[in-house]
Parts: sequence; structure tokens; C-alpha cells
Amino acid sequence: MKFQGTENYVATEDLMVAVNAAITLQRPLLVKGEPGTGKTVLAEEIAKSLGKKLITWSIKSTTRAQQGLYEYDAVSRLRDSQLGDERVHDIANYIVKGKLWEAFEAEGEAPVLLIDEIDKADIEFPNDLLQELDRMEFFVYETQQTVKATNRPIVIITSNNEKELPDAFLRRCFFHYIRFPDADTMAEIIEVHYPGIRKRLVAEALNLFYDIREVSGLKKKPSTSELLDWLKLLMAEDLPPEALRAKDAKTAVPPLHGALLKNEQDVHLFERLAFMARREGR
Ligand SMILES: Nc1ncnc2c1ncn2[C@@H]1O[C@H](COP(=O)(O)OP(=O)(O)OP(=O)(O)O)[C@@H](O)[C@H]1O
Ligand SMILES: [Mg+2]
Repeated sequence: MKFQGTENYVATEDLMVAVNAAITLQRPLLVKGEPGTGKTVLAEEIAKSLGKKLITWSIKSTTRAQQGLYEYDAVSRLRDSQLGDERVHDIANYIVKGKLWEAFEAEGEAPVLLIDEIDKADIEFPNDLLQELDRMEFFVYETQQTVKATNRPIVIITSNNEKELPDAFLRRCFFHYIRFPDADTMAEIIEVHYPGIRKRLVAEALNLFYDIREVSGLKKKPSTSELLDWLKLLMAEDLPPEALRAKDAKTAVPPLHGALLKNEQDVHLFERLAFMARREGR
């Protein structure tokens, strides 16, 4: 049972090796890479291609590790006791299962557990999950029970590098950095999303796209997801490929740039470059 990419996801050789290594080692796969390089979708595709269920835990700045295990709903219990509800006598009624618990007790085959954007959380968050992810078990104090994974889930953890992860955590993971796709891989990715798209349009768009990424001083380089949005618009507007190759297109603001450039500084940068190119051209 090996991961080899899917019809919807272009996996490079090194990515496939990493996924399969993590599965063999039974360690979490830590995936880093620029925003929009397919980290989140990777977990979905691994689950699909291996025929497993996907459980996604999206991390926010306020997420605590304990929420992934379970939470004790004291408020409901208090309310039930005031109303004289019978349920109040069994504390287990007020234990709310988290995503790890859900993954540990999944029926049948072990699922894929995606812990998405782990770097969003507090610095203590990864450390607080070390034991649980390593041993795949934890203890519930309120009910005095141990929850243990029947089958070890495949754990995929993504990070955008907003915070450094602790060494003890890194030691337990298999690491993979998704390098920004080269033009050939990108053309394959585009074909997967827009089958039959005109080759000329893709070629011109990719030229311009990689030129834009090269411009020094950009605050936010456009990535795969922006390119896909942009191409969709170019197709919808039925723009001829030549429009992307106007003689000074390299320095002019690209058509429908709102899909590619996401802040005013970058747009101004392009406008300035276009202005200078026009002056030189005169
Ligand atoms: N290798 C690939 N094959 C097919 N589609 C891809 C690939 N890489 C990226 N994409 C597409 O790019 C888009 C962004 O992917 P995704 O949301 O997984 O990025 P991400 O790395 O999780 O970004 P972020 O860090 O912002 O969460 C999706 O529409 C996805 O389908
Ligand atoms: Mg993501």
C-alpha cells in the first residue's frame, strides 16, 4: 500500500518517498512549504488514494492541545443538575471527544489524521501533544479510562513556518519541505485542474508567472493557488495568450493582477516598473 499521487494531485518523486517513509516509520509526516503549495490537499489525497477516512484538525491561535484529546463540558453538567436531569450522574455524558480521540477509535482501518497549520498555535502546543502522538494513547482523568489507538493513524502535520517547532517534537517526525514546483511540474498541476487547457495560454502564463516571482522586493510571491485562480480568470475572459506577451508585459502590471498580487505595495512596485520601462522605451 504505497502513496503514488492521484489523478487530482501531482506528487513529485521526493514527496512520494517522504509520505511512504513516514508511513513505514509510523511517524507523523511534517510538511512545510510556501502557502498554496498543496500541503493541506496532500493529506486529503493520501487518504483518498489509500482508501482511508480523513480526520482534519484545523489549528487556530486559540487551539489548545487538550481540545484534540477531549474536553469536559462542566456548563452542561451544571445545567442538567439544576434541571434534575438523570444524565448528570454519569460524568461520561459530559466528555466531548476531540479529533485525536476520534482518530484513535475509528472503526476498521486506521484513518489519516491531518493536523493543519500547527504553527498557528501557542508555542507549547506541539510539546503538549508529544506523548499522545508518540504512544498513540492518553488518559481521561474524569472517567479514569485510557484511550488507545487500535490502529496507528497516519498523521500529517502542516506548518507555514510562522513559528519554530521544538526539537523534541521534530525528532519524532519525518520531515518534508515541498519545494516550489518547477515549470514542468506546474504545467502538470494545471492540466490536472483544467484538463485540455490551451497549451499556448499555459506557456505564456507560466512565463509571466515565473518572471513575476523573480521580481525582487515582492512582499508576497504568488504561488500555485494564485496561479490556478488567475488561469481560471484568463480562460473566463477568453484572453488571447498574446495579451500576456505585450512587448513590455514583463514589466507592466499583468492583466487581472488581483489574482496574483495581494497587496498594494506589490501593485505599486509593478506600476513603477512599468512606468520606468515606458520611459526607457521612449
Ligand atoms: N501538487 C499539486 N497537485 C494538484 N494541485 C495542487 C498541487 N499543489 C497545489 N495544488 C492546488 O493548489 C491549491 C492550494 O493547495 P493547498 O490549499 O493544499 O495549499 P497549502 O500548502 O495548504 O496552503 P496554505 O499554507 O495557504 O494552507 C489547491 O487548489 C490545490 O489543489
Ligand atoms: Mg493549507
